Amino acid sequence: AKITLTDSVGATTVLDANPGDSVMETAVRNGVTGIVAECGGSLSCATCHVIVDETDYATLLPMEEMEDEMLWGTAVDRLPTSRLSCQIRVTDGMDLHAALPETQV
Ligand code: FES
Repeated sequence: AKITLTDSVGATTVLDANPGDSVMETAVRNGVTGIVAECGGSLSCATCHVIVDETDYATLLPMEEMEDEMLWGTAVDRLPTSRLSCQIRVTDGMDLHAALPETQV
């Protein structure tokens, strides 16, 4: 699986991802500083916010209510395709594109 992250200045990072991991774990393991993930994935910090590409967003499992609620507390206002990357599971053959909010560079 593959994850492509673009930061707010337009720099792109392509990551190899293992099915079963979260997108946040994959990014942190690869040293992507834009994914802060203060809470380590326990859905309480909202510093793992990503804005998913529209086409890719439709392929993800719908988010749980808790994630939806947390997304109101992100540093940069949520967009229609915002997700918390600790709640996105990497699946087989995934090819996910997402942007990092400007506070997370
Ligand atoms: Fe804290 Fe995702 S890592 S909410």
